[in-house]
Amino acid sequence: MILLGVNIDHCATVRQARYRGAATTGGNVEPDPVALALACERAGADGITIHLREDRRHIQDRDVERLCEVAQTRVNLEMACTPEMTALALRLKPHAVCLVPESREEITTEGGLDVVKHREKVARVTDAMNAAGIQTSLFIDADEHQIEMSAKLHAPWIELHTGAYANAYHGPARADEFKRLCLGATQAQALGLVVNAGHGINYINIAEVRTIPHLHELNIGHSIISRALFTGIEEAVREMKARMNP
Ligand code: PXP
Repeated sequence: MILLGVNIDHCATVRQARYRGAATTGGNVEPDPVALALACERAGADGITIHLREDRRHIQDRDVERLCEVAQTRVNLEMACTPEMTALALRLKPHAVCLVPESREEITTEGGLDVVKHREKVARVTDAMNAAGIQTSLFIDADEHQIEMSAKLHAPWIELHTGAYANAYHGPARADEFKRLCLGATQAQALGLVVNAGHGINYINIAEVRTIPHLHELNIGHSIISRALFTGIEEAVREMKARMNP
């Protein structure tokens, strides 16, 4: 069975649209991403993913603290490879961290982390997390050099970036992008890496994404939160899980 990590960042995006600049760390500000996380878990989510961005555009520090206290499943903290984020993860001890690239201008995470270029920085964070018993996942493109380096850096997990595939879904490059993901997953599994995937996965492309070999977990956010506006979050989570594991 493929596991589902629900990314709840965009619940916080809606909250910040109204409360940005106000006291967002307490009081009756809505919608509360932590309450949403608990509803996702009730509906069968296997984990909750949040991205604490450097600019705090959606998830806030207090959300991470509260979620780590009350989550019943796994908390996966997406973060940049910075000393500030490393210290925060070591203090709050989520079950896992996913190291992602971050630049202030991008709307969302646009490409994989270049673990070849940034290997020293990535090694420092991965070693610190391994020593603290926090699983590290590296969010990378399905590229043979990135995958090889991920194994060398002793990251137990990778998350293959499915964004290029999702963008190509209705165009001629789709088959090539899909093949790249399948080859990457096969290479990673042979190197002993646990294979996750995420970004741009929706209720349509999941029919093909789920056939990528060796998948352990998918991290899905935008499509689930979007559907939840119409169906409620529990139905949106249940429907995605059903499509992942028909
Ligand atoms: N995985 C990672 C590493 C991400 O950065 C994101 C986006 O925040 C996701 C998964 C979820 O992507 P989406 O919101 O497109 O489902």
